[in-house]
Amino acid sequence: MADSDRHPFLQGLSNHRGAPPTVVVIFGASGDLTARKLIPAVYNLACDNLLPADFFLVGYGRTPMPHDAFRKLAADAIREFSRRELDDAEWERVARHTSYVAGGYDDPEAFGRLATHIDDLEKQLGRGMQALFYVSTPPSVFAPIVRGLGASGLAARHANDPLHSKVIIEKPFGRDLASAEALNQTVQSVFSERQVYRIDHYLGKETVQDLLVQRFANAIFEPLWNRNFIRSVQITVAEEVGVGTRGGYYEQAGALRDMIQNHTMQLVALTAMEPPVSLEAEAIRDEKVKLLRAIQPLELGPGGDVARAQYATGMIGGRPVPGYLEEHGIAADSKTETYAAIRLSINNWRWQGVPFYLRSGKRMARRVSEIAINFKRPPGTLFNDDDGRFDLAANTLSFQIQPDEGMSLVLNTKIPGLETRTQPVKMNFRYATTFGSNTPEAYERLVLDAMIGDGTLFIRGDEALASWRLYTPVLEAWAKAGREGMGTYAAGSWGPKCADEMLAAQGDAWRQP
Ligand code: NDP
Ligand code: BG6
Repeated sequence: MADSDRHPFLQGLSNHRGAPPTVVVIFGASGDLTARKLIPAVYNLACDNLLPADFFLVGYGRTPMPHDAFRKLAADAIREFSRRELDDAEWERVARHTSYVAGGYDDPEAFGRLATHIDDLEKQLGRGMQALFYVSTPPSVFAPIVRGLGASGLAARHANDPLHSKVIIEKPFGRDLASAEALNQTVQSVFSERQVYRIDHYLGKETVQDLLVQRFANAIFEPLWNRNFIRSVQITVAEEVGVGTRGGYYEQAGALRDMIQNHTMQLVALTAMEPPVSLEAEAIRDEKVKLLRAIQPLELGPGGDVARAQYATGMIGGRPVPGYLEEHGIAADSKTETYAAIRLSINNWRWQGVPFYLRSGKRMARRVSEIAINFKRPPGTLFNDDDGRFDLAANTLSFQIQPDEGMSLVLNTKIPGLETRTQPVKMNFRYATTFGSNTPEAYERLVLDAMIGDGTLFIRGDEALASWRLYTPVLEAWAKAGREGMGTYAAGSWGPKCADEMLAAQGDAWRQP
């Protein structure tokens, strides 16, 4: 494909970012994430000529499967989930280097077979290649897989050259501070931090990456980006979908672990961190950790900084949907929250006194993720109405992360006419309008970055811990309280009353995105 035929986001990439010969091994290859995201990501990278010329894909899992069955599973996944149609010729280039190894996740003999298989591929190639292990299983087997990679010598392949093995670890990285610390220890006993890529797919979203560009490539924002001009920041990650078929997982997770602790906190960190000294991975991660550490411990209990709720029956897309407690695989007395709202206070020079409100929930009115920067109101001396009432809107800058990716700024404008009357209007920028649609998926960017060895868009160990340190007391308090204090909200609404009250207590209200 000619460079000029590529999506604008990808033009020029292959000239600058070459991955060495690579074998990607997916643990959990028969699973949902592999089919929905990982195989389509590999396929689209191949279509965009971003895979190394020498590329191998190996599926690994307990399900016995001949190589051909895995190739078929992969082709079916591309047909169903890829942003591009399956092109037989393109896929064939990947498929002929695709294979499968069956084995358990704590089975030394099977890890030995995997090691031999990779050695054989390397011999076939006639030169060395890096191994990138993608751990895409339920978290209960993350640690055994990592230990297996250590004991089998797979983690140490090419230890003294640039082809040193790497590992991508899926979320959730732990379920509280203690378990995240334990997992970090296991990972760090086998891999050096440079080899480890803890994934948070929100960091791979175009609009999330653009946040840094908007903040630090435009001179107009930085002077305003602080407590002198900003009244509050609201971050919403709302989903229309319910718990679906993932009840077993979700009952153990809940909105705080599933969305707030990771995705939403990454948005907080990128919005609020200080300018990094460079765009190097460590420089950005250092600033994110500093920011996370500056967040004050949360006030728990009534009138505090946290609210939680479960969805009740309601309407989505004009159709009735069941409440959380009626969903398949959910306990009738479940204590798992499907919605969480948090008020954060950041105790540093830039942000002291500016509340950061976060909310995330399933079965909300519509799917939308956004960051809204609410500026202080202008002084109301000039534009009062005839009755002397102040009538100006506060300026709001919002970053629409998905869907309909873009940015908008609310400004007060004169309504044309002989009277001087004002009205808030929105200036809009939409990615699709300017750059076209069919943007690469987050997982494409992240798999490519890991192959290249760029950890900027991945979570460092201390970052994960800083976030768990903040939320573990909340999880403990909620576990102790059981259902006491659990709010409800109708499916298809914007959330529970308790979250509205949390903001009202500060004289604020949630935006309707
Ligand atoms: P799945 O439940 O589909 O599991 C993946 C594979 O792991 C299965 O096909 C199975 O393969 C093996 N497996 C399943 N259960 C167990 C078990 N109890 N013990 C050992 N192996 C098991 O998971 P997903 O693909 O949905 O998710 C994989 C990872 O990605 C998880 O960590 C998840 O949190 C994360 N993730 C998933 C998302 C999604 O949309 N699915 C989104 C974001 C993150 P086999 O039996 O062949 O070994
Ligand atoms: C995953 C959560 O990490 O993110 C899911 O486990 C959630 O529960 C998903 O649905 C949302 O991702 P996205 O990219 O659709 O906003």
